Amino acid sequence: MKVAVFGIGYVGLVQAAVLAEVGHEVVCVDVNAERVENLKKGIIPIYEPGLTPLVERNYEAGRLQFTTDAELGVKHGKIQFIAVGTPPDEDGSADLQYVLAVAKTIATYMESPKIIVDKSTVPVGTADKVAECIAAVLKARGVSLDFDVVSNPEFLKEGAAVADCQRPDRIVIGTDSAIAESKMRELYAPFNRNHEKLIVMDVRSAELTKYAANCMLATKISFMNEMANLAEKLGADIEKVRLGIGSDPRIGYHFIYPGCGYGGSCFPKDVQALVRTAEKVGYTPELLRSVEAVNGRQKEKLFSHVQSYFNGDLAGKRIALWGLSFKPNTDDMRDASSRVLMENLWAAGAIVQAYDPEAMNETQRIYGTRADLNLMGTKESALNGADALVVCTEWNAFKAPDFDLIKETLSHAVIFDGRNLYDPAILEPQGIAYYGIGRGRSVE
Ligand SMILES: NC(=O)c1ccc[n+]([C@@H]2O[C@H](COP(=O)([O-])OP(=O)(O)OC[C@H]3O[C@@H](n4cnc5c(N)ncnc54)[C@H](O)[C@@H]3O)[C@@H](O)[C@H]2O)c1
Repeated sequence: MKVAVFGIGYVGLVQAAVLAEVGHEVVCVDVNAERVENLKKGIIPIYEPGLTPLVERNYEAGRLQFTTDAELGVKHGKIQFIAVGTPPDEDGSADLQYVLAVAKTIATYMESPKIIVDKSTVPVGTADKVAECIAAVLKARGVSLDFDVVSNPEFLKEGAAVADCQRPDRIVIGTDSAIAESKMRELYAPFNRNHEKLIVMDVRSAELTKYAANCMLATKISFMNEMANLAEKLGADIEKVRLGIGSDPRIGYHFIYPGCGYGGSCFPKDVQALVRTAEKVGYTPELLRSVEAVNGRQKEKLFSHVQSYFNGDLAGKRIALWGLSFKPNTDDMRDASSRVLMENLWAAGAIVQAYDPEAMNETQRIYGTRADLNLMGTKESALNGADALVVCTEWNAFKAPDFDLIKETLSHAVIFDGRNLYDPAILEPQGIAYYGIGRGRSVE
């Protein structure tokens, strides 16, 4: 099938490459000319396992094209995906300006019936707004063309995006149109062979499904973080508690890891956006507000541990930081906990010596060159001359470090572990002070 994808970011690029791989002809359109030119040269703008060979293979085969020419994309695709960003606007609602700009573009150039697919995460009612926008432009052009607006939210996880798109656990399609449903079935047929994965519903329910999924996951994390904070006060170990509750199949082991807060491009903004949506319809979202508040507090936790350990005197202290991305296997630093920590450390006069397997360029892009940020080439070199070590991201590379080296290199043998990677029962007999999240010992 002929498909256009607007927005070549984490979602658009992965979705486009995966669709091309099964034989669809995909034209990717982005307003970022540098990104488009780089992609044509084989330079992939994001780190995502397995993505580079997939893009290269399909680009060379001619099934995947990159362009800034929106008209080309609109004319090419029977199916038009909108996969642009929906960042928070000033009050935390999802900002729909990019989605509506694409809708306008599609309406400006379309000359035949189209199926417009909202792949971006958008508030309930957005498909109606997209349809109104398209209808208004077509009317102004004086043309009458059929179109459907379908909601098809994306559930991929950064760090496993290619695998998630190739083997989705569900494909949610929101539409009331039989024609649109059958075209979407045809598009996704290669991904629907093992068993029925399409869940077809009305548009509004599909739009809400995406927010409900992310808010549920964020709620699990904030719940565990609240338990962890309580465990710290009560002298319990949250890691034991985690195993004790996860063994109940009604609870399960997934997504109940305590830590230094959730980040990324989705959970923080989607929880916030659903809170605003609820408020706009006169509903008080008590639980969601708390999920957000608990997470905000949790992101301050590592800094408060470090600050208390050094009795509030961080001026000139060098802090080794392992992990900058908001989670492993990605270079994405949007709303990452590491950013809150670094910015607090800098405000207190400390120097950060940071290492991340993939997010160093992104850190440089965000913070530029500054005297109190040293980006180090290895996790070991980040320890040199440092006073303490903080772990912010659970990359595999950090899971079994050389503790002797850590102890010898740091001026204070202390680890602040924002992801509970290490066992205090092993570290403390070796003379390394250990502060995890909810491990029965508070530094305060
Ligand atoms: N990143 C994720 O893990 C994830 C997962 C599921 C859903 N989502 C949702 O998918 C959407 C996209 O997220 P992302 O992380 O891929 O964003 P992103 O910021 O990585 O990419 C967005 C791209 O859209 C481009 N763009 C902006 N305006 C455009 C226009 N008018 N025409 C063409 N291109 C335009 C930008 O230049 C950018 O390349 C968001 O709504 C997000 O909430 C993201």
